[in-house]
Amino acid sequence: MLIDGVPFRSIWLEPDGRTVGVIDQTKLPHAFETLTLAHLDDAAHAIRSMQVRGAPLIGAVAAYGLALALRLDASDEALAKACEILLATRPTAVNLRWAIERMKSVLAPLGPQARAAAAYQEAARICDEDVAINQAIGRHGLALIEAHAKEKRGAPVNLLTHCNAGWLATVDWGTALAPIYMAHDAGIDLHVWVDETRPRNQGAGLTAWELGKHGVPHTVIVDNAGGHLMQHGRVDLCIVGTDRVTARGDVANKIGTYLKALAAHDNGVPFYVALPSTTIDWSIEDGVREIPIEERAEAEVLSVAGRNDAGLLINVAITPKGARAANFGFDVTPARLVSGLITERGVCAASREGLAALFPNTHGR
Ligand code: MRU
Repeated sequence: MLIDGVPFRSIWLEPDGRTVGVIDQTKLPHAFETLTLAHLDDAAHAIRSMQVRGAPLIGAVAAYGLALALRLDASDEALAKACEILLATRPTAVNLRWAIERMKSVLAPLGPQARAAAAYQEAARICDEDVAINQAIGRHGLALIEAHAKEKRGAPVNLLTHCNAGWLATVDWGTALAPIYMAHDAGIDLHVWVDETRPRNQGAGLTAWELGKHGVPHTVIVDNAGGHLMQHGRVDLCIVGTDRVTARGDVANKIGTYLKALAAHDNGVPFYVALPSTTIDWSIEDGVREIPIEERAEAEVLSVAGRNDAGLLINVAITPKGARAANFGFDVTPARLVSGLITERGVCAASREGLAALFPNTHGR
């Protein structure tokens, strides 16, 4: 997508053909800074500290992290160790495991001398495929938005999204935001309610930044405002991303997504989830019981990061000294609250049958 007219992806191979460039998302929206990942540890740190985040991008960074590791040591032991280190960085987004498994299946059968070059090639393939997948998601989601636009006879279509499932969370285009960008580019009058998404404010900081750079009309709202807006007919449809979808269509996404789905259900507002098939975990059914939910540091809840009047990026405390906090990163929305899953192969019901119809050659149980 474009940043001030310049096309960017969220991850790229640097001209030296070895190191990997990413955008430091912990600095956005206040500063646009890029980082160079030169070693496995840089990639692992970038994922753990959320300099890069979003399920598909986490997978892409892990793939390049393996390439960086194998450049220095391509033995079986080094490959196994690198996979272990990367896998431990974040627990919920299944794209991480998917990317590592895919890389391993390509690399393990090769002799060590061939592994590094093959790893770079496979990582690049994963990135290019992600872009194509997200464009397809965008096209399928666009048809849904067009249908709403028709119903509204020219009045703006109001969408609501949670967290950041835009191009920053993927290699390009995004998942939930891809249909929104395509609808906007097609001239559909639309407006996006952007949940701020405490504690890390991916909505306020990243989604609002992305949409602003692309010229999409949007308004940031506090996380608790969605229900009120839906009760008053001010949301036509919700589209969110996801970090893991089970074989029966349960959806893990950023904490707070479940409450939006409940409010949408109560108010008859369609609630769609956009996902690449790389986010489906065919090995599990019951999302509430089986998806590991990341718990992060208390500090993210006890303080807020922002820019002060002098332009400095600072953290300020928002709770009494000594207050304790719990910081659950994700929640699970049961399939029954999801109106449909927007995938690269089309829109389907959030159910085992719906997913299996689009992806018949899977290893679901
Ligand atoms: O903790 P984050 O910022 O990595 O969480 C991101 C989300 O929850 C996104 O909605 C999800 O990864 C889908 S990204 C296309």
